[in-house]
Amino acid sequence: MENHTHQIKDVFELTDSGMQKVNQHLRKQLNSEVILINQIAEYIISNGGKRLRPILMLLISDALQYKGQQAINLAAVIELIHTATLLHDDVVDESEMRRGEKTSHEIWGNSASVLVGDFLYSKAFQMMVKADDMQVMAILSNATNKISEGEVQQLLNVGNLELSEADYYTIIANKTAKLFEAACQLAAVISDEKDDLQDDLAAFGMLLGTAFQIADDILDYTADDEDLGKNLGDDFNEGKLTMPLIYLLKHGTQQQKQTITQAINNPNEADFNAIKQLVISSDAIQYTIQQAQNVSAKAKLKLTHLPESAAKEALLFLCDYAWQRSQ
Ligand code: IPE
Ligand code: IPE
Ligand code: MG
Ligand code: MG
Repeated sequence: MENHTHQIKDVFELTDSGMQKVNQHLRKQLNSEVILINQIAEYIISNGGKRLRPILMLLISDALQYKGQQAINLAAVIELIHTATLLHDDVVDESEMRRGEKTSHEIWGNSASVLVGDFLYSKAFQMMVKADDMQVMAILSNATNKISEGEVQQLLNVGNLELSEADYYTIIANKTAKLFEAACQLAAVISDEKDDLQDDLAAFGMLLGTAFQIADDILDYTADDEDLGKNLGDDFNEGKLTMPLIYLLKHGTQQQKQTITQAINNPNEADFNAIKQLVISSDAIQYTIQQAQNVSAKAKLKLTHLPESAAKEALLFLCDYAWQRSQ
């Protein structure tokens, strides 16, 4: 079969009609009598975002020829959970930019952002009940719980120069990849697929989400901030050690180790641009890209038993996009 997916734009086109339904459903569900909820929810939803997690859910449902009503609803649930984590995450990370605009807490303050984040989580739970399926509830409630666990693990490790690559993988599995896993597994669950295929698709989501977060951590050093829609250096400025720094602390020169240690131990005097130069002129980025690429290659293998279709080609494309993306 000829492959029609060459760019991320092709994935957006392929899923456009489904995603319009997801967006419509989201808007309807977020209607509240409380004005501030409408304002913040509308702000963060209409500023877009790539909508990758619901797109994954739609692509897999499509590849499995799912014909029911729940794919749209659950895709919206997943995006709401994601959006709630971002509202909270930006407060915790003190980030000023998200999706090319000021973060919600910069406009409405931390309290409003945290509380509206809670509103989005609980709305997602109301919506998932409509699927009337205990397995669906279990997957989504477990994923949501793991995300919080990952964010807390990360918080506990702020400034921890001993953080290992294995610990880093655990944190990103929880805070990011779990929700990708849930999106992919759920599509197989609602399609009543056999356990083996459900497991493959869950593993696919976990690997894809892992590659995606490793790339995010690279982009915090290498991106063009306009493309990214976020400020560079947010991880470093919060004392968050991600794979490039973990690598250099282990394999870098004495000088590199010393500079990074000094910066992490003295956050008030640390200069992100100096650290950025150090990182991008070392082999840490190349190493980290290689890890993301390896993880994506493993993700592709998990699609072996998924029937051939345009949706499957798009999923394979997303494995490359996850580590090659610039935004
Ligand atoms: C941001 O996720 C948080 C991470 C897991 C890196 P996305 O990059 O998917 O954010 P949006 O939804 O497209 O803005
Ligand atoms: C993303 O965390 C994961 C969650 C939002 C739970 P990050 O802090 O690494 O992502 P960005 O860089 O703010 O998007
Ligand atoms: Mg953040
Ligand atoms: Mg964070």
